Amino acid sequence: MFTDDRKLADLDEIPRDSTLLVTLRQGFDEQEALLIQLADGVACWENTCQHWTDVRLDKGSGARVTDGEIWCQKHGATFAATDGECTHGPCEGAYLTEVDVTVHEGAVYLTDDDYEFAHRGPSDDIDLSSRGRIDFSGT
Ligand code: FES
Repeated sequence: MFTDDRKLADLDEIPRDSTLLVTLRQGFDEQEALLIQLADGVACWENTCQHWTDVRLDKGSGARVTDGEIWCQKHGATFAATDGECTHGPCEGAYLTEVDVTVHEGAVYLTDDDYEFAHRGPSDDIDLSSRGRIDFSGT
């Protein structure tokens, strides 16, 4: 279960005020996920807004996080880092898709059987067209 090929990161690499991006495999597809450190562990969510699911919360350099909420910079939706619920914005009440992870001996491991760990950082397979839209960050 806690094997090197399922180790996502050391615990101290995962920020509390931003997110760490990883790429997972789901069958033949890649799926990005973001990790964030909580007061009592680590949460991992698929890196897709619930308003427009082609919009990524973490574009590769960490999502904006304030007061324990992960922001979508497209239309300003906020998601609670603890349970993934959209607390404000156009998809209020929707939930981010959770990826199961477990902290073990100072490291975070992927323990969700639906995914395999591909690599750290962004997916090479993500549609770059969504990166070209103007959003709050100006990128
Ligand atoms: S795409 Fe995220 S709030 Fe609209």
